[in-house]
Amino acid sequence: MSTITNLVKNMPKAELHLHIEGTLEPEMMLQLARRNNVKLPYANIAEICDAYNFTCLQDFLDVYYLGMSVLQTREDFFELAFAYLQKVHSQNVTHVEIFFDPQGHTERSIPFDIVLSGISDALEKARTEFKITSRLIMCFLRHLSEEAAFETLETAEKYKDQIYGIGLDSSENSNPPSKFERVFARARKLGFALVAHAGEEGPPQYVYEALDQLCIQRIDHGNRALEDAALTSRIARQQIALTVCPLSNLKLAVITDMRQHPLRQMLQKGLLATVNSDDPSYFGGYINENYIAVQQALDLTMAEIIQLGRNSFIGSFLDDHEKTAALENFDNIVAKL
Ligand code: HPA
Ligand code: ZN
Repeated sequence: MSTITNLVKNMPKAELHLHIEGTLEPEMMLQLARRNNVKLPYANIAEICDAYNFTCLQDFLDVYYLGMSVLQTREDFFELAFAYLQKVHSQNVTHVEIFFDPQGHTERSIPFDIVLSGISDALEKARTEFKITSRLIMCFLRHLSEEAAFETLETAEKYKDQIYGIGLDSSENSNPPSKFERVFARARKLGFALVAHAGEEGPPQYVYEALDQLCIQRIDHGNRALEDAALTSRIARQQIALTVCPLSNLKLAVITDMRQHPLRQMLQKGLLATVNSDDPSYFGGYINENYIAVQQALDLTMAEIIQLGRNSFIGSFLDDHEKTAALENFDNIVAKL
């Protein structure tokens, strides 16, 4: 193993952009479909994998919503989330901030508390067994209405102890952040941390809206912010973290070749960029595979990899005390690698 791959694999990391429903591996999809009597248009794993050929975000989302239809019980959500946590524990992830899409489940009559309790059970088990710390971020589906988002937020209020933040995902084009200004204002009043997907497919204007109208604390993706120099320097100056997802960008044709990935440019412009997997089962790799793919394509240096690892904790929602401890631990371990 090259020294740099060794560094990627062994350094402690935080994952800040991960949709738990996007960790559903084909094997588990088939197993849960059988267990829950859900009809899928796939007969076997090869047919599922054949469907994972996306030309844009919407292509992926259609397959993603279909896949999550096999998730029905608290146990299903627990198994899904715990499998992910086991996997990233083996990749030396020590902190996770996980998105979930409750509307993808409540829309098909799965109760909110079934979804949340299954995921929370897994986070609790990972905390005791693996010492993985976590924050849960509930996303609104932006292709649905403002009213539906308000209803979902009202439900989430009852589970405030388990939900740390609010995010915004799904079909970006034609669903600008401004559509959710009022519901994000309400979430802010309730004390939730705020993030949003912006600038994945959508224009720099959507990043401005996410910052100025939604008042988000972190940008998910943010690639297209680089098209606007003033916006880029502002994000750098304010040290607003970007949760970048290299294999996702490649699979969803945000870039056509990993060698075009803007990650090094982001670092050179002083942006607080981090590396994440987004939907690892659908995009061909968990967090370490994302680091390795982009490292190899851009020939990132040890110093750049270390910066990315440190950024993952700096950009996290750990409190100041936890952050200092996580960075100290990071520096100690990296010094010995
Ligand atoms: N973008 C938008 N919505 C999503 C994504 C993504 O990458 N993954 C799951 N929902
Ligand atoms: Zn995402």
